[in-house]
Amino acid sequence: MGAHTLVFAHRGSSAALPEHTLAAYLRALDEGVDGLECDVRLTRDGHLVCVHDRRLERTSNGRGLVSAYTLAELERLDFGSWHESVNGDDPPDPDRTRLLTLDRLLTAVRAADRDVRLLIETKHPAKQGPEVERRLVALLRQHGLATPSPDQRVRVTVMSFSALAVRRVRALAPELPTVLLLEVLPPGLLRRGRLPFGAHVAGPGIDLVRARPQLVPHLREAGHPVYVWTVNETADLDLIEAYGVEGIITDRPRMVLDHLGR
Ligand code: G3P
Ligand code: CA
Repeated sequence: MGAHTLVFAHRGSSAALPEHTLAAYLRALDEGVDGLECDVRLTRDGHLVCVHDRRLERTSNGRGLVSAYTLAELERLDFGSWHESVNGDDPPDPDRTRLLTLDRLLTAVRAADRDVRLLIETKHPAKQGPEVERRLVALLRQHGLATPSPDQRVRVTVMSFSALAVRRVRALAPELPTVLLLEVLPPGLLRRGRLPFGAHVAGPGIDLVRARPQLVPHLREAGHPVYVWTVNETADLDLIEAYGVEGIITDRPRMVLDHLGR
């Protein structure tokens, strides 16, 4: 592995605690990660909330689309009791069950007073317009995080599977680093070399890395750092070790750090 491979907690320390809750993120920081990964969606009234799925059913006691509800309505739901770590807690710890807004996550990360890299993935569909990217860049500006500098302790990178979303973020905040996430091999990438729209970092899934052994070396030779997701098994860590990737995104950060001897 590279001299210092960055370890990112995917949705927080999400194997141990309910994903995207404040408790899952604080636990990941306690476990010694370099950074955190977070998905964001827009509520009906335009707030950025940390939720992966389009719908509410899997991770809350609500029903329907996240985007159909206001922030106040979503804040009344329970986003933690579905997880085995919370079942039986009486009363449940609000940090494990409450909806997390991106604003609160940014405030908590800044208050942690340590170096943290934050990977923010825009999940709201890019084809529905540029609102999610605009709101995201505006919120990052409010927190003083839209223009990274070497003396900053919190450094944000924006990620998306959508090249359109990456292009919009590049236009709105050219200084922000971006990751283009790759689930399948984009046509022509291996011939062309560079990622489209000026994306800095390549983010292939572990399944794609397994299927295309030439991909990671090719991307790195083209000058792109590579962050691989979502790596939860030691066999996969062994597989990517030979490539020397720059970042590993995992639900089990302590296991990965142990594997790296940190
Ligand atoms: O970190 C990238 C990874 O999170 C992409 O997949 O579905 O977990 O958002 P997903
Ligand atoms: Ca994600």
